Order: sequence, then structure tokens, then C-alpha cells
Amino acid sequence: MDMTHPVGTTPLDTITDGIVGKPLDRVDGPSKVTGTATYAYEYREPENIAYGYLVPASIARGRIATLDTAAAEAMPGVVAVLTYRNAPKQGSASQQVEPQLASDRIDHYGQAVACVVADSFEQARAAAYAVAVGYAPDPVNAALDANLDRAVKPKDRGTSPADTSVGDADAAFASAPVKVEVQYTTPLQTHAMMEPHATLAYWRRGQLILFTANQMPNRGQAILASVLNMNKDNIRIVSRYVGGGFGAKLTPHPDAVLAALASKVVDRPVKLALTRQQVFHSTFHRSDTVQRIRLGATRDGRLVSVAHRSWSGNQVGEQNFEAAAEVTRSLYATPNILTQHRLAELDIPTASAMRAPGEAVGMLAIECAMDELAEALKLDPVELRIRNDASQDPTKLIPYSTRAMVPCLRHGAEMFGWDKRVATPGGVRDGQWTVGLGVAAASRGNPLQPAKAWVRIGPDGIATTRAAMTDIGTGSYTILTQIASELLGLPPEMVRTELGDTDFPMSSGSGGSFGAGSAGSALYDACLVMRRKLLAAAGMSDGATFRDGRITEGNRSVTLASLAGPSGIEADGGIEPGTMHKLYSQQSYGAHFAEVGVDMDTGEIRLRRMLGVFTAGRILNAKTARSQAIGGMIFGVGAALTEAVALDPRFGMFVNHNLAEYHVPVHADIPAIDAVFLPELDDKSNPLKSKGIGELGICGAGAAVANAVYNATGVRIRDYPLTLDKVL
Ligand code: MOS
Repeated sequence: MDMTHPVGTTPLDTITDGIVGKPLDRVDGPSKVTGTATYAYEYREPENIAYGYLVPASIARGRIATLDTAAAEAMPGVVAVLTYRNAPKQGSASQQVEPQLASDRIDHYGQAVACVVADSFEQARAAAYAVAVGYAPDPVNAALDANLDRAVKPKDRGTSPADTSVGDADAAFASAPVKVEVQYTTPLQTHAMMEPHATLAYWRRGQLILFTANQMPNRGQAILASVLNMNKDNIRIVSRYVGGGFGAKLTPHPDAVLAALASKVVDRPVKLALTRQQVFHSTFHRSDTVQRIRLGATRDGRLVSVAHRSWSGNQVGEQNFEAAAEVTRSLYATPNILTQHRLAELDIPTASAMRAPGEAVGMLAIECAMDELAEALKLDPVELRIRNDASQDPTKLIPYSTRAMVPCLRHGAEMFGWDKRVATPGGVRDGQWTVGLGVAAASRGNPLQPAKAWVRIGPDGIATTRAAMTDIGTGSYTILTQIASELLGLPPEMVRTELGDTDFPMSSGSGGSFGAGSAGSALYDACLVMRRKLLAAAGMSDGATFRDGRITEGNRSVTLASLAGPSGIEADGGIEPGTMHKLYSQQSYGAHFAEVGVDMDTGEIRLRRMLGVFTAGRILNAKTARSQAIGGMIFGVGAALTEAVALDPRFGMFVNHNLAEYHVPVHADIPAIDAVFLPELDDKSNPLKSKGIGELGICGAGAAVANAVYNATGVRIRDYPLTLDKVL
């Protein structure tokens, strides 16, 4: 089916006691906690696996001048040392993924200059340190803040231009009675997913098989086909379990390309994992940003002008910019609105998508600027947002599919006790702590991607579903099980969900908050096809009920198993995005409320409690959705208070390239956090009437924390993260 029309009443609406939406425990939970879920690096088959180890460049730009691999080759267990001199010839770069060991050029710190292959990991690692590389370095230009004047307008993206303008934001700002003009900066960030990138690659009769950690296997297949100059049908990617991605696994990385090349050369299966340190330089990160915001308002708090200009950086030649101002295009009603992105070319590793690319850091700026405007207006910041709620998208000038920001603000304010907030900063003390409350809105785009799915009912009455979808810790296995369970009238233990294999039907994979809606809709469609086949086989009408493994109509009742017969019965389905996304502005919405305490002597900031209230269409599993939202909020707390990659501009390298020094929140940093979803159905989004939730939680979360810090202290910190040195 395709999304060219709003969805009418569906079987999901009519099954009133269904399992979709229920807080079903993760179906893959037991295998994960018992260690039987196999991640990419854990496969022990096929036999005779060799181990690869990436040797990283220690300059940011230049050329390899001397290269001596003799000592490494002579070490115990070493099977081969691949360099640009002997690596197989490859194809061309695709979607930010480069051929490896292709020449003597170095374009970023950490780029692979060699790959050692040995009988054991330890032997490969030891030999990697014996590869002697001499460099002819070029001058390095790596810091965004030194390159703002050189930044240029990047290429528009398909759905998202670099710049937009409605009305005349500058003129309206000049004549606005109340103004805020501020600059916010966000640092380099990195995904810090739990599982480092890893691949097991081997070749069988001309086919390349990769067990790898990848969010979008079909995309990975196409990218590797380009990079390795192969037909994509000769590449199989298996990613059954992925230990977090956050965007860093949207594409294959050097572990996959090098393992494939090495396996070809040594004619053995090759496993290659990036070390945690290598993940920082050899995969993706999020650019730092400089964001300049101008808000103009009437004295009663109505926005007359919004301008959001953002600068980010990327490796020389890259066009991917951090779309920080994109969210501002649809956030609040105003007749004059301008957004602009500029991109600086730098000698750094590749910047790319990281959880809620754009919104996550854009809202750290715009939602604090809104707090500053509320302060200037002497208006409650919840009320300011309510007053500027939009009835249509102010940039695209089309209706919203749904927009429930105001109900989220009101509900959250009530639950959180917002009415007890003291507007004057520093007005609440608790011993050595000064305590403050902050609010911010949440908004995240809701895309839909093409996807297919397959379902089969076997002679035992068990349904098996398949798609090249992934579960990156998000709950895909569980919600897909629920969808099939409900539509086919089977208990969830009678549904087997198989994912993460390009031998299965093409799917969206996990990214951009589109996974559940896209893969879920495809499976929904496949299950509708299956229902029709079963009804035809049973000779029953649409009015029959599917329940407990049986179809019943009147006094007739048959089991699915008997209808499936000895050979089983199969059905295919799929979803196409259609035109609804062009006709309706689609976002999920929410509101964050945070309470912080700031130590008056040391400036230490502690989060005390936090609440997120969201709307995201139909919620497919109350438990996994809440976990997703809370995870996103914690990510936002990290962005506000701790996370920053420190660049050494002399070497284009990230200094704190480990999890000891790249500070993500730990349990001790996170007190009681709650997330609530208000009921909503979006009949313009997809047949499930759901919207994406994976990235909603992070959007605005950090701004609520920063606004709470201001309310606690009266110190407005506009440079993230908000560390204690900046408070004092
Ligand atoms: Mo996401 S940044 O599309 O994993």
C-alpha cells in the first residue's frame, strides 16, 4: 500500500483488546540477558577465522612518505599486511563511505593506513604496532570557529534545503518591540554506542557475506556495492543484533570494507572490530555548531520574526551539514522566518547523522533563546510557547498532520508542578543548592521509508515474519511481533520475527525515527494480505474474527494451522511513502520539564527530576516507547551537561577518544525521570497511525536542563556543555 491518502478505519482501530500498544516485554530480552543473542563479533563460524586490525594514520592531512611492513609481516601468526600498495582495487565512494587503502593520501586523522591480518586478535594488534609509517604532512585546518567566514552554503538535501525564508525576518526584527539576539554553540559530539563497530566477512562462490553491526542493511549493501565495485546482489549483510547505533551505523564503516578486502586477500573469513578509540576517528561524529538566533516579538509575546543561522563543519569535500535550524522552520507561528546553514570544510574525520540530526542541537539553541525571550517579556515560558502555537506550518504553509505541543505543555506543567516555579532566578534554595526549573518543547520530523515484509503460517500454526529490518536496541523485534500477533489473532509466542538479513525482503532499517512506522506498516500490509488469503481459504467474510489461532464466523471456527496445510501459506506486503508527506507537515511533539540543583560553592549541576510528555501517534508498545523516550532524554541531559569531544586543532584529532573522558551520563547522574505519551492517532503518517519516537526524546531535553540552570542561578550559559567552570 502507499500513503497517498489518509488512512481510513483499519483493523488496528477495530480490535479493541489487541496487543498492539500493550507493554509487552521485549521478545529478544531473554536472549540478550543470557548472552545467547549473537552480535557481529561473536560469530564463531565459519572455521579458520583470521583477525584484522586497523592501523590508523597519525596525521590529519598529507601523504604516506615511507611505509615498512617487513617487521610486522615477520611476527608470529601474521598472515598478511594490507596497505595501499597491495590492497585490491576498489570502486568509488558512496554516501560518505570511502574505499580503504586506496592511495597514499591521508584525509583525516585515524584513516586506515594498513590492515594487519593474523591468526589471533592479539597477534594482529601486536603486529599493527610494528608497521612503520612515515608521513609528509600538509598544514592542518581543523577548527570550525576559525573557519566561520570561509563557510559556504552546502548543497540542498532532497527534502531539506540549506536555506529557507518566508516574509522578511530581518526587517521585522529591526522593528520588533522586544528582541533577543543570541549566539549558542554546541561541541563536537560522538555517538558512544555500546557496541563498537565490528564485522566478520567471508566469500562463498563470488558472494561476499558480512556479519556486521549495521542499522540499514539494504543501504549498506548498496554502499558496499559501490565501494567494492560489485553487484549488490552478490553482497549479503547480516545484522541480527546491533548494540546501539544512534546514526553511527547507518552505513558500513572501515571495519566492513577492510574485513571484506582482507578476507579476499587471505582467502579466509576475517573478523575486524574497531577499538573504542578507533570508533571516534574512523567512523562518524556530530559536528560542532555555532548558531545565531534572532527573535522579535510584540509586547504581548507574539513572535513577529524568527531567524536561525547555523554553522557546522565537515571533512573537505563532504556536503553533509548539521541541519540545526531545520526544526525552527515548523516550530512556532510567525509571518517572518529565516533559516540558514553554512558548512566549513575542515581536516577532520567525517561528520554525519547522530540521533535527531539537526533538531538535537538546534533545539539546544532555539529552545533556550525562547526562554530568553520569555525572560525579556516577563512572561511564563510555557505560556510564551502556547501563545505562539501554529495552526499551519509557517515555512511550508501547509497543514500539520497533527500537532499537540500545547496539550503536552499543559499536561506536563500540571504533572510537574510548574505553577510552583519561582520566576526570579536563584529564588529557591535547598541547603547548599540553588534550585531551578526549566521547560522546553520537543519536535522531531516523522519520515516514512519504503519497506517490504513477508509472513508465513506454517503447518504448526506458527507465524514467521521476515524483513531486512534491524533492532538496534529499540524494540523492533517486539513491536513487529505485536503487529503480526494482533492482526493474525495469534498469541505473541506463536509469532517468530526474523530480522537483520538482506536475504529477507528489503526494509527501511533503523534510522531517522522511521523504522517502526516503515517496517511496521510493511508487515501490517503483509498481514492484511495473509488475512484475505486465510478468509478465502476458510470461505469466510471480512466480518470473521481472528483470535487464539482461529478464525471464527457465526458458528464456524477453523484453526490457522489447518488452513495453512502441510505446505504453509505465505503473504508479502509493503509500504511506499506516497504523497502525504508533501501535503502535511509531520512531526511528533512534546514538552520537557527539568529540575536542577546547582551547588553554590562549586557550581556542580545535578539533575533532580525530569518529565517528558509526548505525542507520537499510536504507541505500538507502551514499555519500549517509554524506554526510548527516557533514553533520548538522558542523551539530552548528556548533551546539556557533559558530552563534548575535545579537538586538538593542530592534529585534527579528538583528544578524549574513550568513554572515560567522553562523558556520557551514568546511573549516578540520572535521578527519577518519567516519560508519558498522550493518546493520539495520525491518519496521515502511515497505516499504523503511529509516528517515530526514537529521536523525539532527545529533542529539547537538554534545553530544558539549561533553562533550569538559568532559573537556578541567573547565569545564562550559551556554550554547551554546561560544566561547572562556566557556572562560576
Ligand atoms: Mo539516526 S541519526 O538516523 O540513527
